[in-house]
Amino acid sequence: MEYKRSRELFERARLSLAGGTSSSSRILKTGTQPHPLYMESGSGAHIRDVDGNTYVDFLISYGSAVLGHASPLLTDALSSVLSSGTMFGTCNVPEVELAERICQSVPCADLVRYANSGSEAVQGAVRAARGFTGRSVVVKFEGHYHGWTDTLAVSAKSTEAEVGPYHAPTALPHSAGIPQGVLDDVVVCPWNDAEVLRSILDTNRGRVAAVICEPIVANNACTMPLPGYLDTLRRECTERGIVLIFDEVCTGFRTGVGGAQTLFGVVPDLAVYSKALGGGLPISAFAGRQEIMEQVGDNQIKHGGTYNGSPLCSTAALVTLNHLADPTVCRRIDEAGQRIMEAILKASRDNRIPCIVQGVGAMFQVVFRPEGSPTRNYRDLFSADLARYERFRHELLLRGIHINSYGLACWFVSAALDDDDTERTCAAVDEAIAALCS
Ligand SMILES: Cc1ncc(COP(=O)(O)O)c(C=O)c1O
Repeated sequence: MEYKRSRELFERARLSLAGGTSSSSRILKTGTQPHPLYMESGSGAHIRDVDGNTYVDFLISYGSAVLGHASPLLTDALSSVLSSGTMFGTCNVPEVELAERICQSVPCADLVRYANSGSEAVQGAVRAARGFTGRSVVVKFEGHYHGWTDTLAVSAKSTEAEVGPYHAPTALPHSAGIPQGVLDDVVVCPWNDAEVLRSILDTNRGRVAAVICEPIVANNACTMPLPGYLDTLRRECTERGIVLIFDEVCTGFRTGVGGAQTLFGVVPDLAVYSKALGGGLPISAFAGRQEIMEQVGDNQIKHGGTYNGSPLCSTAALVTLNHLADPTVCRRIDEAGQRIMEAILKASRDNRIPCIVQGVGAMFQVVFRPEGSPTRNYRDLFSADLARYERFRHELLLRGIHINSYGLACWFVSAALDDDDTERTCAAVDEAIAALCS
């Protein structure tokens, strides 16, 4: 495959864009070559780079383009908004219709507020929990990611040398520039261990405003909650007057229109949405119980934003959610994903490569670890062979399949994937796994 134009563009970008990129999470390598791919266009399940290579896409903009790229449903609806005004900074009809749709779809949602990114909506939910309880500490789980802003930029990717004791993980900032004050108000807990959770909540009795989690840990190789674990979170929070927040930025409107709270039958106090919500446009939301969100509504707890609930993004979200509300759409996504998950497992078994594929059809991850068993928490991933995953990704790329390069992230499946795309992906998986043995 030829990547000449991508290489040239990266060289050019480095002269004006910090690091040549718009985000610390962007992929800066193509196999062994030290440059990212520049995408030019997308249509349905496919994307095309500036050198003319085409791919079936399982990054789908980190899960956002859930209807596929340039979905006619969206382009039709948005073209009229483009010509009649995208933003007025005033109240508008689509933001109301969207809030009604979210309240219908999401069990915890009595009231909704919008923002523009997942990080911002997490900030809104955490402030609401702190304002409502009058407490400051937030308990988060090791390896769970809640955005790049200071609020919770703690212990999402610690190394084995940094993590500290299992029963009391060290709270580590994601980067330079995060002050100690942030760490003082965040307590890190291992995932899927009810006993340690209770002990941490006991130690911090009366100080904890919120417990926040990714119900399926999209940023931790789709580690699933152990049966009953989310119920334990619910019970402990209720008994202690703590606000339970589900960060559904990845699971929301993807594992079915009700997200993880419907899938697992556990209703949090607040939930955060983005990615699939906007179908590729930048919108996010936090939503939850009347008595908490009312305090946001009456300005006891402040929340603002110039771009919040713009007609453009609200319309995109409304069209996306209306489409996903048809149960056959989410079922098709899930079935296509399951088919690919099975193909990866079979190819790994056939080639005697220890591997686990975990998550649900709509979002899953492949973990090459000697144990070949599902991961239970972040530390289980220290035995994952990330170099093998990177090679797997490159072998797939050579065969026209595009996935997230970060071995602890996940594959996202779009509604635009058809049977041919699925079969093409399964065939590429067979070859890519076989190539790992050569
Ligand atoms: C679970 C989760 N929460 C929050 C965020 C932050 O969202 P954003 O990148 O839109 O700020 C992400 C982003 O990947 C995420 O996966």
